[in-house]
Amino acid sequence: MTANSAEPDVLDAIWDDRLPAVKDPRSRATCRSIGTTTGAEVARALEHLRERGIEAQPEGDPQAPSQRRAAAITVGSSDEGLVAVRHLEDLGYRSWDPLAGAAQAIHRRFRSNVTLARTTDATMVLDVRWPSPSGLAGRLPGFLIPNENDYDALTLPAALWPLYLLARPLRLLVERVGIASPSTHRLGPFLGTPQTLIGPLLELAGATADDVVADLGCGDGRVVLEAAAAIGCRGIGVESNPELADEARRRIGDGGEAGERVTIIEGDATDVERYVNQATVFFVFVPADAAVELITRLLGAAKAGSRIVAHEQHRLLNEPPGAVTKPVIVDDAVTVGHCWTVA
Ligand SMILES: C[S@@+](CC[C@H](N)C(=O)[O-])C[C@H]1O[C@@H](n2cnc3c(N)ncnc32)[C@H](O)[C@@H]1O
Repeated sequence: MTANSAEPDVLDAIWDDRLPAVKDPRSRATCRSIGTTTGAEVARALEHLRERGIEAQPEGDPQAPSQRRAAAITVGSSDEGLVAVRHLEDLGYRSWDPLAGAAQAIHRRFRSNVTLARTTDATMVLDVRWPSPSGLAGRLPGFLIPNENDYDALTLPAALWPLYLLARPLRLLVERVGIASPSTHRLGPFLGTPQTLIGPLLELAGATADDVVADLGCGDGRVVLEAAAAIGCRGIGVESNPELADEARRRIGDGGEAGERVTIIEGDATDVERYVNQATVFFVFVPADAAVELITRLLGAAKAGSRIVAHEQHRLLNEPPGAVTKPVIVDDAVTVGHCWTVA
C-alpha cells in the first residue's frame, strides 16, 4: 500500500533521510518496525560473533526508528573484521566486494570496512568496520586506493598484493585514454528489493498478465518470479554475475508454474537494445547514477507504451522528465518508486 497523506512531505523526508521524524502515522509505524528488526538482526550478529571469540560493538542505536534496514558494527582490527565477515556468511550475509587472495590482503591494509548485505524477504545491510589504517594507507588519496573494480580486473595470489598499488593508477590512466573495456558490473552490487515492495512497485507500473516484466540486473531473480506469480505475466531477468544468475535460475526452477514463465539470461543489462523488444515493463533497481543512464537509454529505445519502473531512497539527479513519483511505504520497508511510460 502506498502512503497517501502529505505525500510531498513524505517524499522529501525519504530523500533527506529523515522519514522517522515525520508526523505521518504510517511512516512512523514502518520506521519503528524497521528499527526493531534491525536491532534484532544486529543482536543476532553480535551474539554469533561473540560465540566465535570476536567482540563487536554496534554503532549508534540499531533499534532506533529508521527508514533503512542498515546498521554498522565495529571490531578491534582489520584481521578481526575479515574473520567476522566470514562468520557472518553463516547467517546469510554476503560481501559486496569479492575478497580473495591479494584482494583480501590489500583490502585489509588500505580500507576500514566491508559492506555486507543479506537478502531474505527483507534486505539488511551490515557494515563491518575497523579502525582506519595508518601509515601509507592512511595518507594515500582515496582515488589511488584499489577498489572492487581493480579486484575484478586482476586476480593475484595473496603475496603479490602490492601489485594492486601499481595496477590502480595504470587502470585509471587506461580508462582515461579510453582503452579499457567497460566493466559489466557498472550497474553496481547486489542488493535485493525487499519482497513486500515488489507488488506495490509493479502496481505503480500498471503491470498486468499481458506484460512481460524484465528486471535489468535481476540479482537472485526474486522480482521476476514474484511478478510472474502475483500477476501471471511472463518475466525475463538479466544478470551479469554468473553466481547470481545461477541462483536466480535455481529460484525460478523451484518456482513451479510461475517459474516456467520466467527466463534468466546471464548477460550485460546495459545492452538495452537487446532487451527492449522482449519486454513491456522494465524494472530498474541499481545505484542512482547508473539508473538515470539506463532509464534514459530505455526511454529512447523501448516500444511505445512500455513502462520503466525504478526505485531507490535517493533523489535521482538529472532524472528524465515525465515520471510518476510516489513514496512506497509498506509495513516493513520504504522506497520511492518512479514510473515512466514510453511515448
Ligand atoms: C541492486 S541489485 C538489484 C537486484 C534485483 N533487481 C532486485 O531488485 O532485487 C543490482 C544487480 O545488478 C547486477 N548487475 C550489475 N551490473 C550489471 C550489468 N551490467 N548487467 C546485468 N546485471 C548487472 C548486480 O550483479 C546486481 O545483482
